[in-house]
Parts: sequence; C-alpha cells; structure tokens
Amino acid sequence: MEVKITINGQEVSRDVEPRTLLVHFIRDTPGLTGTHWGCDTSNCGACVVLMDGKPIKSCTTLAAMCVGHEIRTVESLEQNGRLDPIQMAFHEKHGLHCGFCTPGMLMTTRALLDSNPNPTEAEIRTAISGAICRCTGYKNIVSAVRWAAEHEAATRQEA
Ligand code: FES
Ligand code: FES
Repeated sequence: MEVKITINGQEVSRDVEPRTLLVHFIRDTPGLTGTHWGCDTSNCGACVVLMDGKPIKSCTTLAAMCVGHEIRTVESLEQNGRLDPIQMAFHEKHGLHCGFCTPGMLMTTRALLDSNPNPTEAEIRTAISGAICRCTGYKNIVSAVRWAAEHEAATRQEA
C-alpha cells in the first residue's frame, strides 16, 4: 500500500506492506536513523517520536496509522545549526552515556516541556517513565530536563 506521511515537515511517500512499523518507515525511507529501535515491544522508549506533538512509540505504531499526521523525529530538534535547548541541556548536564536511549529521551522531554514548561521533578520522572536508560541512573537526565526548562524560561523572558 502507498503510505504518505509528513516527517519533520517533509512529505514522505513509499509503497510498503500494511504491517510496516513506523520506526522502519522512518529509518528506511528518509533514512532518519536517529530514531532507535531497541526492544520492539513498547518497553524501552528508544523509538519515541512525536505524532502531532504527542510522544508515541514508533515500534508499535503502524506506518499506515500515521497518514495525515505530523511526525517529528530527533533530527528536527537542531535548526539551522542551533541545538534545541534540550540537546544543550543533555550536553551540559551529562544526561547520556552510551546514547542509545537519548533520541527517545529527547523527544519525550520536548513533548513534556511543550505541554508543561515548568515541570516538577515528580512530573519529569513520570514523563520519562516509559523510557529506560541502562547507563545514567536517571539523575542527570532529570537535571538536564530541569536545565532545559529553566533555560527556555530565561529565553522567553529576554524575548
Ligand atoms: S523499541 Fe520501541 S519501546 Fe523499545
Ligand atoms: S545513555 Fe545508555 S541507555 Fe541511556
């Protein structure tokens, strides 16, 4: 079947089997391999992308279900050579080690701050509870999300 999806603002079209998962569509068609594929069972969160601004697990979403929706992947965060504050935050606060979970963490965080610009630690931990990190122990990830929230608030005040 022909599936046409808007990914990072660009329409991407491909003839795929109806069972094709979104994670494979994203990685194979436009070649956006920043979205990772870990458990394939909705457990690890490495495959999280945004659908119409909401985080979804692309390993358990059919590509055909995304027709007519806007998909946003980790590659969309950096714009014109400028890192998203969330990317800056994970760098500043050492919110990653191996980096496998990071694309999903970044997109989960983007969705959180877009809906709740000033989350508490409890709200951050709830938001990232669907994403597993085997390296960091989560402390630095939580610090990074707080750093990003504070940085974005300061930038809004300056504007
Ligand atoms: S690969 Fe999708 S949740 Fe693990
Ligand atoms: S940084 Fe290695 S799994 Fe999270």
